[in-house]
Amino acid sequence: MLQKSTDYILSKIGEVPDVVIVLGSGLSKLVDEVEKGRRIPYSKIPGFLSSTAPGHAGELIFGRLSGKKVLLMSGRFHTYEGYPAADVGYPIRVFKKMGINRLILTNAAGGIRTSFKAGDLVFISDVINFSFRNPLRGPNDESQGPRFPDMSNSLSKVWIRNANRAIEEKFGKPLETGTYISVLGPSYETPAEIRMFRKIGADMIGMSTIHEVIVANHLKMEVMGISCITNMAAGILNQPLSEKEVLEAGRKVSKRFISIVKTIVDKTC
Ligand code: HPA
Repeated sequence: MLQKSTDYILSKIGEVPDVVIVLGSGLSKLVDEVEKGRRIPYSKIPGFLSSTAPGHAGELIFGRLSGKKVLLMSGRFHTYEGYPAADVGYPIRVFKKMGINRLILTNAAGGIRTSFKAGDLVFISDVINFSFRNPLRGPNDESQGPRFPDMSNSLSKVWIRNANRAIEEKFGKPLETGTYISVLGPSYETPAEIRMFRKIGADMIGMSTIHEVIVANHLKMEVMGISCITNMAAGILNQPLSEKEVLEAGRKVSKRFISIVKTIVDKTC
């Protein structure tokens, strides 16, 4: 099936993209920036799942961004939708098989570090897998990667450094970096859980990303992660969390998100 999915996408786009960008909740406006964009609905791709999450369209878009060949994944899969972690990571295997080696994962996240505020963009320097699911569980295909992959540089430190150099040059200030903790969801956390997560070293929290990071690492791809802080995590501010707030905050930060991503693609891809 992997070969079939790969062949189908390549037959539609005709060239190998320089980079794949997975778009998080509310961050899909980047799609409008792609020149000569060609859209491929997931429903047409053999072996692809369909996305049920709000704010996730369910299509690949191929075209030019900052002059580079980019493939955008608009609509990702989450374990809270009921998908096994291996299925959530399946598109990443397809991208690698297409010949793509660089992956940018974006997400909406709750801020745990109290100095963060809604609208901040943060590079993910490391991840804590609190979803208790692993996409590599089960028999290992050695042609894909090792049984026990090393995870000590699963998010490329060099790539963050190079990107932050370009961002500082252009905008006067680099992005903060932080540790992202992945939970299963779909309920938001309790204030007590957030206090615990802060103690164990998490700076931001979300319900995605980790399974894609693990699969990409298995495949030895270079990975970058960017969290958009859409809300402060539970119990920090005196207000309830809502999906509406998350999607709105994502939309509000769209312009800045787009210029940051364009700079990263321009200078480091
Ligand atoms: N918790 C979990 N996932 C999220 C949050 C949050 O506060 N905000 C956006 N995604």
